[in-house]
Amino acid sequence: MRQAGRYMAEYRALRERVDFLTLCKTPDLAAQVTVEAVERLGVDAAIIFADILLIVEPMGVGLEFSKGDGPVIHRPVRTAADVDNLREDDPRETVPFVFEAVRKARASLPAHIPLIGFSGAPFTVASYMIEGGSSRNYIETKRLMYNDPGAWRALMERLVRIITTYVNGQITAGAQAVQLFDSWIGCLSPADYRTFILPHMKTLFAGITPGTPVIHFGTETAGLLELMAEAGGTVLGVDWRIDLDTAWRRIGYDRAVQGNLDPVTLFASQDEIRRQVKRILAMAQGRSGHIFNLGHGILPQTPVENVIALVEMVHEVSEELRVQSAE
Ligand code: CP3
Repeated sequence: MRQAGRYMAEYRALRERVDFLTLCKTPDLAAQVTVEAVERLGVDAAIIFADILLIVEPMGVGLEFSKGDGPVIHRPVRTAADVDNLREDDPRETVPFVFEAVRKARASLPAHIPLIGFSGAPFTVASYMIEGGSSRNYIETKRLMYNDPGAWRALMERLVRIITTYVNGQITAGAQAVQLFDSWIGCLSPADYRTFILPHMKTLFAGITPGTPVIHFGTETAGLLELMAEAGGTVLGVDWRIDLDTAWRRIGYDRAVQGNLDPVTLFASQDEIRRQVKRILAMAQGRSGHIFNLGHGILPQTPVENVIALVEMVHEVSEELRVQSAE
């Protein structure tokens, strides 16, 4: 969840010299910020520094990260012809820097720290390609989905093929787990998820190298948890808008869960952060298969000392609960 980023002084210093896309495309630097964040924060796993939009640039839509506005797609995909015109080259040729960054990060991380690769999931990636950037209501995305289901299917199928090769390439390069970010999937009704998303997610999960844990993440997914679990994933990521115990019961105890602290809690006092850590860990009830995480990405203004304190608290409180349950 943005282990590295603008809330860290080290990252900001580097970003004064290089823009975001250059940073992503320079494996030595991407590996460096990945490893630096782990060292600074004391977290138990690393996530490779990259972005879910790196794979859309080689499809020919024009990608820019502009200051203040977030990502911008210069030639949004709006019609069946636009979908047909998308390029579909092998990510190993178009984004080799990501795999190289994974190799380098894996080589410099301590052996006991797993490295997580990632990709956007088809819906969330498509929403950027269609809207041309971030969106509130996903009007263009849903318009294409409803008005031209054939074009929608073609776009999903194309993204599934690219994403499958992309995550499998990261696994080959040394990623020991992969996370699929379906960050904006919560804007869909369960009925639309079932019709327009579920079949494609099933194909995607089926194509991922067996034996590698996959974290299936979304936000505002309280209406979709059973469907997301049906789609696939070793681990389901949940945000703070649902209690962790309720989410886990609905997902099923045969799956692991990840979550679910509100990232804005990190702006509160450390006493409050500790209370929330205890509350979440209590809801996990000592079951194995809970990955403590934020429910969504760290915000740029977050005090880094609170992030470091959070990691310590999770370790301490988990240990306390372990001792108590052993007594
Ligand atoms: O967590 C990590 O450390 C790994 C790196 C990572 C980034 N993006 C780096 C990044 C990961 C896992 C992502 C995923 C990502 N990117 C998602 C899914 C997760 C989520 O937040 O829902 C999405 C939707 C994106 C698309 C994206 N990239 C947006 C909307 C933005 C702009 C954000 C903003 O506040 O302006 C980015 C840029 C981005 N990706 C930054 C980082 C560190 C900030 C870029 C900068 O340095 O200015």
